[in-house]
Amino acid sequence: MNNEFLMNLIYIISSCLFAFGLKFLGSPVTARRGNILSASGMFLAIIATLAGSHVISFQWILIGILIGASLGALVAFKAAMTQMPEMIALLHGCGALASVFIGWIAYCVHGATDLTNTITLYLSIVIGGLTFTGSAIAWGKLSEHIPGKPILFTGQKWLNTGIISAILVLGVMFIMQPARYDLFLIILGLSCLFGIFMVIPIGGADMPVVISVLNSYSGVVACTTGFVIHNTLLIVVGSLVGANGMILSIIMCKAMNRSITNVLFGAFGSVVKKSATGEKKEAKAISVEDAFLILENAKSVVIIPGYGLAVAQAQHAVRELGEFLEKNGCDVKYAIHPVAGRMPGHMNVLLAEANISYDQLMEMDAINPLMENADAAIVIGANDVVNPASRHDKSSPIYGMPIINADKAKTVFVLKRSMATGFAGIENELFYYDNCRMIFGDAKQTVQALVAEFKSGQSR
Ligand code: TAP
Repeated sequence: MNNEFLMNLIYIISSCLFAFGLKFLGSPVTARRGNILSASGMFLAIIATLAGSHVISFQWILIGILIGASLGALVAFKAAMTQMPEMIALLHGCGALASVFIGWIAYCVHGATDLTNTITLYLSIVIGGLTFTGSAIAWGKLSEHIPGKPILFTGQKWLNTGIISAILVLGVMFIMQPARYDLFLIILGLSCLFGIFMVIPIGGADMPVVISVLNSYSGVVACTTGFVIHNTLLIVVGSLVGANGMILSIIMCKAMNRSITNVLFGAFGSVVKKSATGEKKEAKAISVEDAFLILENAKSVVIIPGYGLAVAQAQHAVRELGEFLEKNGCDVKYAIHPVAGRMPGHMNVLLAEANISYDQLMEMDAINPLMENADAAIVIGANDVVNPASRHDKSSPIYGMPIINADKAKTVFVLKRSMATGFAGIENELFYYDNCRMIFGDAKQTVQALVAEFKSGQSR
């Protein structure tokens, strides 16, 4: 067995590990296994690449691996669950930068060897450059190192169009004269600049979609770089990441009722603020004590978590409330909306952190037919994902977005601090429904107060 055959064999095994890893990441039950498989695939890929290359001295490579691995481990250990989107932005920004460097070195050492090589090199520096700076800005916004609000100025669209046009024109020139290093550098510089201008007009709460799109780009750039240096594994893995990121972005957009073109061409951050139409009704508030009396007699309760649950960090209190309800003979389910919170799987991660059983988590399509039989729905820090306007109000920005039908339950309790709107900036007509009662206050404190009622009810 020669060296190259062995390397290709290990590459195939790595590719399979990545593919299965991704498959397992599709469910919270198997996600850990998915991570381990993918990490093993990456480990094998590194070993095979090093063994199969013509490296004479491993000294610098080992130093690089040590620094990279230590920093990666440190960042991952330190990051809280709510910091995951910014950490992902940082990681794929680094991936894109690595691809740019590989392409750059390949160009400096070998030059652009043929037409395919020149085109893939051009794509690598353009997509890599904009992904790197775009991800850096996304990280800055999410970690509040720079203002999270959209940064807008006059002529922004024209400036962006100008930069894209320049990148395209210079690209054609570079493909025709691949030896021109000056063009290479200008294209790289403009791409990095475009990444900044592409992300600054986007608002903080839209960042998860941007991050998913940039994640996809980082896969595409790995793939094009794979073509530049003729590395099959990089092409396969880059394609997997690119396709996955794009599919995830499309899923997120569909669940938010936004089009992918709307997202890709930077129309976000400009959500229309809109008030509920029709006759103004009063929302009815209820005390924790009175809510407890209804919950004490409930036989089936659906808990609907949203972004406010993450803000309040109420997940452990919610598990306790669920346990008390169950002890009381009540069937408890948790309804998970695909875009509840601010990142994909946000609610699954929070509830898993509190050790809430996966069997009790139900996807939107599975729970909705059961909502009519629920004695009570407890909406905890969710707003847009339970707004019935999306079903009938054609003028609403969330019209057509599938929601969890909390309003179909016999009684709905909404736990939030005020009548403030959610991410979409629109009023929620559910709050004015006859079967809806508001419990105002921080979600964690309210749930803890409900738990206290159950505790004192037990000791009575
Ligand atoms: P939102 O509609 O954003 O509503 C969250 C609610 O939580 C707010 O109305 C807020 O009301 C309440 N809240 C905040 N802090 C609280 C606290 N400490 N205690 C109690 N309540 C608190 O959340 P959602 O229903 O989860 O919907 C998610 C939204 O984000 C959707 O519009 C979705 O399209 C968008 N989005 C999601 C994603 C992903 S991937 N998940 C990505 C981008 C955008 P008060 O201020 O009155 O308390």
